[in-house]
Amino acid sequence: MENQHIDTQSLTQLCHDVLTENWRDGYTVPTSELYPFQWLWDSGFIAIGWSHIDMNRARLELKTVLDAQWKNGMLPHIVFHNDTPEKNYFPGADFHGASTSPNVPTHVKTSGITQPAVIGFVLEHLWNTETDPEAHLDFYRKAVEQTFRSHQYLYRDRDPENEGLVYIRHNWESGVDNGAAWDSVWARYSVPEYELKRKDISLISEEQRPTKKDYNYYVHLLKVSIECGYDEGLMYEKLPFIIQDPLFNAMLVASNESLCRLADKLDMPQVVAQTRIWNQKTIARMNEKLWDEEQGVYVYYDLKNNSVIPMPGAPGMTPLFAGIPSAPQAQRMIDKMESSAYSGENNSVFLCPTLTVDHPEFDYCRYWRGPVWININWLIYKGCVQYGYTELAERIRQECLQLVARYGAYEYFNPLKSAVDNPASKGFGGVRFSWTVALLLDMMAAPTGETQRTI
Ligand code: DGY
Repeated sequence: MENQHIDTQSLTQLCHDVLTENWRDGYTVPTSELYPFQWLWDSGFIAIGWSHIDMNRARLELKTVLDAQWKNGMLPHIVFHNDTPEKNYFPGADFHGASTSPNVPTHVKTSGITQPAVIGFVLEHLWNTETDPEAHLDFYRKAVEQTFRSHQYLYRDRDPENEGLVYIRHNWESGVDNGAAWDSVWARYSVPEYELKRKDISLISEEQRPTKKDYNYYVHLLKVSIECGYDEGLMYEKLPFIIQDPLFNAMLVASNESLCRLADKLDMPQVVAQTRIWNQKTIARMNEKLWDEEQGVYVYYDLKNNSVIPMPGAPGMTPLFAGIPSAPQAQRMIDKMESSAYSGENNSVFLCPTLTVDHPEFDYCRYWRGPVWININWLIYKGCVQYGYTELAERIRQECLQLVARYGAYEYFNPLKSAVDNPASKGFGGVRFSWTVALLLDMMAAPTGETQRTI
């Protein structure tokens, strides 16, 4: 594949157009048809995009998502602002059944699960981008307080053995919805056949989305959660899916660190002290329990079955972003990413595939089972810069630009470079996708050599 000339001016215009088009009244949809509401970790990444265009919108995006916080501190993964489009999405608010919990907010409908804790480091990014941060102290104080409460919830309700690692209780909480890591969990139990009124596969080709069999498991976890009235103790007992996830814990560490620095500036000493304590423990435990020296990647721990799930791929590389690996661990991760398992023979693969290309489950087009995602690449790119791997960082950045320039602002992309030369090949999943353009804007604004260490 020849490196194509990138017209950054038209790419920038595309990014502005997509974000503007996906803006609603106070929040941004990930993409207008497939995901017509507000998603938690999407919103975080999207706010970074807005910070390059309009700081008022960037702040408002976060304010809206934070205002949907549950009484127990949980930030829900979907905020169903508007009932009408629900007709186009499955499972909608009623199917999630979050209102069986006494903790739901009263002004808006939400799901009953959460998503990776990105808001802390996004807040710090916004603060660092402000021309006059002091003019917005009320916003930052409140947002730091709300985000801190969401971390308190995770450490209180999702870490029963007080290990410093929090668990997820639904695969959608991981953000990596149908990752191959979950196959071994599903294989351990059987579920009833549910009636699934899926809308996604009427919009997107079926081979790019999770299978029917997998959706059945996802829906089963919701049904059990509803039977438990979304009570955390009961769900911990009854749900078959209780996983310590490396990406989820890494985002928490990065956000703890950002909250700590922000709280120091905002004179919130309790937040400073507590986030330091959390991070000491979480970083140490991740390195003890989730590090896989052989595969050079952070892996998963299934708490229900007391077993490691040793899955290689891009999500397990994201602890680089949070500064979790030691220098030798980081070197091992980089060596792996540069090996044929990730990069293909002679760099014939776009970094960073969600599953290694030599894995038997690798699938170049199915959602989180192989494709390249811009948000994961952004995290790894930033991580590489912070550890001084500027060459690899620049390769990842350039490849993101190439992918969007060639295919458009898709949700995910074929990692195989051989496909690029085929005029018939396209990007996958949702089109005009918000976090793709948001993070591309950020990568275009900060060429590798100039990137500041913000975490
Ligand atoms: C979906 O519908 O695939 C979403 O990612 C779930 O949060």
